[in-house]
Amino acid sequence: MDSKKNDAKINLEVDLGPLHLSNPATVASGTFGYGIEFSEFIDLDKIGAIFVKGLTVEPRSGHPQQRLSETPAGLLNCIGLQNVGIESFIRDKLPSLKQWNTKIIANISGATEEEYVYLTQQINQAEGIAALEVNISCPNIDAGGMAIGTNAVLTEKLTERIRQNTELPIIVKLTPNVTDIVTIAKAAWNGGADILSLINTLLGMAIDAETWKPVLSNVTGGLSGPAIKPVALRCVWAVSQNVPLPLIGMGGISTGTDAVEFMLAGASAISIGTANFINPDAANIIISQMSEYCFRHDISDIREITGRLHVNP
Ligand SMILES: Cc1cc2nc3c(=O)[nH]c(=O)nc-3n(C[C@H](O)[C@H](O)[C@H](O)COP(=O)(O)O)c2cc1C
Repeated sequence: MDSKKNDAKINLEVDLGPLHLSNPATVASGTFGYGIEFSEFIDLDKIGAIFVKGLTVEPRSGHPQQRLSETPAGLLNCIGLQNVGIESFIRDKLPSLKQWNTKIIANISGATEEEYVYLTQQINQAEGIAALEVNISCPNIDAGGMAIGTNAVLTEKLTERIRQNTELPIIVKLTPNVTDIVTIAKAAWNGGADILSLINTLLGMAIDAETWKPVLSNVTGGLSGPAIKPVALRCVWAVSQNVPLPLIGMGGISTGTDAVEFMLAGASAISIGTANFINPDAANIIISQMSEYCFRHDISDIREITGRLHVNP
């Protein structure tokens, strides 16, 4: 099928509250560096949005090796938020990245509420950022991160503080490592989030039976990739039924059909993570496949499929 011909007929633009994207296929934080590294291999202009690697106040070298371990249908990582730090990102990375005709979304992680507020203020002053993604769901750090995202009171309070410090669209990124993700989603909504992204990785571990040691240096890590897709779909669907915010769905998306499933479950856009390690051009392939899907189903506007899951026969 000629996907170029199809693209011309199908409207792929989506609106997530205040955030407009040229198409719903974005790349997930931590799986696409700072974006620029990929410009040699793929056309960044075609991606709906680039979520940059999680940024912290100070540069971080992350956990020691070994930080990655493959599982039968997924990837375990304990990178530990290796990044250049907010100052260097704004000074050294952002100027070249913002030349591309795609939306740049900064992903921030703090060890304390004050650090999140500082990061928000820095991003707020920088030019070329379309939205702020607040990572309260990283399983690989000791302070902040998932400790906030597993607590509804802390989630609401932090979101409120961030809301007081920026006019940028706020995306709160949720963890699946909770009993009830809807409670946390509602807390972020009450705190003033514009958009929710879900899910971050699931806590897991790998063991080497020969050495009797954990495979990962941090013992535990975050599981991503196709193995987590059913969990992610369930999370997106449950949140979409209970919280009136636009959602960005992710977790194991590697084909256009996977992406469509997330939109049917209630997502307005999707993010591609682990699949970028298999093929750096995954996002562009997936958007073409989504377009082909719409063509086959006689859908002229991709927004029509969001939340259209038929639960009752
Ligand atoms: C190696 C690696 C690093 C990641 N780093 C971050 C990060 O810095 N910030 C963040 O919010 N999520 C991070 N994530 C989570 C992804 O953005 C995404 O939520 C998760 O991997 C699920 O999507 P996937 O199954 O398509 O990979 C990381 C994931 C991986 C695999």
